[in-house]
Amino acid sequence: MREFAAFLLGLLIIVGGAGYAVAYANKAEEVVQPIRFPHAKHTSLVSCQTCHTQVNDTPHAGLPKIATCMGCHQADVSKSPEAAKVRQYSDRGEEVPWIRLYELADDISFSHRFHLKQGLDCQACHGAIGESTQWNTGFGKNGTNGPSGRDLMGFCLACHQGRGAATDCVACHK
Ligand code: HEC
Ligand code: HEC
Ligand code: HEC
Ligand code: HEC
Ligand code: HEC
Repeated sequence: MREFAAFLLGLLIIVGGAGYAVAYANKAEEVVQPIRFPHAKHTSLVSCQTCHTQVNDTPHAGLPKIATCMGCHQADVSKSPEAAKVRQYSDRGEEVPWIRLYELADDISFSHRFHLKQGLDCQACHGAIGESTQWNTGFGKNGTNGPSGRDLMGFCLACHQGRGAATDCVACHK
């Protein structure tokens, strides 16, 4: 299933003709999120920004609070046992401890707002996550592929070189 997802993602990138080769690592280790959250069932209902509220305005996209989930899950929207967990977290007054897939080292400068203002869309860097039924690959410090699984700097640089954006070390390294 994972291989298929990787294949599909590869295909989407090729078919999409996106100039940037988002080289997802081959050996994605499985990440088991506390709740298996299927993006696809939600992105058909609301925009990315409904949950990743800060993405247009700040460097960070942000992950949703349980209150955002409960906006819909207060009602009986799903019979799935995974959806039942949403309510259990809420009843306990806890946030969901999501495992981060994309996360950079603290000494790297990166801004979502800035990149979105350049006209890039989420897909350019995050691939088909919006269509995923269960996402389990990533990059970065706590990424599932680990620091060795993916050449993260190469990913940034490939696009920067192609678009004439900064490639000097201090542009990205604080
Ligand atoms: C805009 C309303 C809305 C919001 C906000 C929302 N959900 Fe859902 N969710 C739904 C609906 C509707 C379904 C049922 C979809 C279906 O069965 O096709 C669902 C289904 C699910 C399921 C079950 C999926 C499955 O495999 O059947 C999970 C798990 C889930 N949501 C988790 C979450 C979490 C976690 C959040 C907060 C980050 C969240 N949802 C926010 C509307 C929402
Ligand atoms: C209903 C809420 C909701 C919507 C809508 C939503 N997301 Fe998410 N997103 C989440 C949750 C919850 C997580 C954490 C769980 C996970 O990684 O699967 C997450 C994780 C992510 C991550 C991984 C972040 C990290 O570092 O762990 C990316 C990237 C992402 N979403 C992009 C998108 C994009 C792009 C869209 C629109 C196409 C979108 N999301 C729409 C709730 C949502
Ligand atoms: C130019 C590449 C790029 C684009 C375009 C991009 N992202 Fe990201 N995204 C990243 C990187 C890199 C990280 C890790 C950032 C960090 O750790 O500081 C990230 C992290 C995230 C996270 C985890 C939470 C956070 O705030 O770090 C979410 C959610 C996310 N992105 C959603 C989105 C959505 C939604 C869009 C489109 C509206 C988008 N991203 C567009 C590269 C990108
Ligand atoms: C898909 C293309 C793309 C990717 C991938 C990408 N960038 Fe960029 N980045 C750009 C563009 C375009 C600019 C703006 C160039 C200009 O100034 O005209 C930019 C500018 C920047 C700037 C300068 C911001 C400023 O305030 O001057 C930083 C820092 C940066 N990117 C960091 C990163 C990092 C770190 C990554 C990898 C995690 C990354 N970028 C990945 C396209 C990309
Ligand atoms: C476009 C952004 C960008 C530019 C320009 C850039 N780097 Fe990086 N670099 C990164 C990112 C992103 C990582 C991975 C950080 C992580 O793992 O979270 C990284 C990682 C590294 C690492 C591995 C250790 C570490 O800090 O994680 C070294 C060493 C490094 N860069 C050196 C350089 C040097 C030397 C230059 C200039 C010739 C340079 N970088 C230019 C973005 C950049």
